[in-house]
Amino acid sequence: MEAIEEPPKPMEVLVKAIHTEFENLQSDGAYGNGEIIQNLLLDYISNHNDWREYAFFCPYRYSRNLVAKSDEYELMVICWSKGQASPIHNHEGSRCWMACASGMLQETQYVYQNNKTSYGTGPLESSLVSTIDEGTVGYITDDIALHVIESIEPVSISIHLYSRPITECNIYCPTTGNITRRKLGYFTQFKEKCPQPSTAAAAAAAAAAAASSSCSNSPTCNSPTSSTSTTSSPLMQSNGASSPLANAPSPIPIPTPFTNVNMMA
Ligand SMILES: [Fe+2]
Repeated sequence: MEAIEEPPKPMEVLVKAIHTEFENLQSDGAYGNGEIIQNLLLDYISNHNDWREYAFFCPYRYSRNLVAKSDEYELMVICWSKGQASPIHNHEGSRCWMACASGMLQETQYVYQNNKTSYGTGPLESSLVSTIDEGTVGYITDDIALHVIESIEPVSISIHLYSRPITECNIYCPTTGNITRRKLGYFTQFKEKCPQPSTAAAAAAAAAAAASSSCSNSPTCNSPTSSTSTTSSPLMQSNGASSPLANAPSPIPIPTPFTNVNMMA
């Protein structure tokens, strides 16, 4: 008797469609048509919720949970609790789509005061504040602006697509424009938890960050990263690791409503 094949889950269908689209070379030299990609994400978050299988929260910082990756793109589910804002960051020349699946995100865009672009010197200024509402898709590139993302609901979950993948990015001090490089990591990859700093170390770092300035290169403002320095760390070594921890995380329960008590360390 032949086994009955399970139909693909909606997230699997989305990944396949994204993968196919990123094989299409565009007239501007990029792979993947931006409008098609936006519509794929919009259709997915409007009709499906199996992104919940990838929604793992970290109590100390927003969490990047990898769903799929190729040379052309990386797709992740990002879980935000209120207060877990990103620092001001760039996108290394990549395109970034942000599909809000639950909650509401606020995006604050920044440019350099001296030339109103992302490529300048000296202090930054806020150029636009907007929201990415549940069921909508935001978009950013370096040519648009730098930005900060944060949740303005107690909990938000967004699906981010980067093309190409970003392995490290700039973090900006708003008052000086000084740049710090930050390597990027994941909280989970393919539903498996990546090695993280110890709970005590993470809590101590979070406390130190809370007491420091907005220019601090601290883990509580790590975005879109799990790292806090330009040097290699155990966390950074997890980036791309293929061996998950023995104690793999469990997905949070169906979040209606989301509650922070289900966050995992
Ligand atoms: Fe970003």
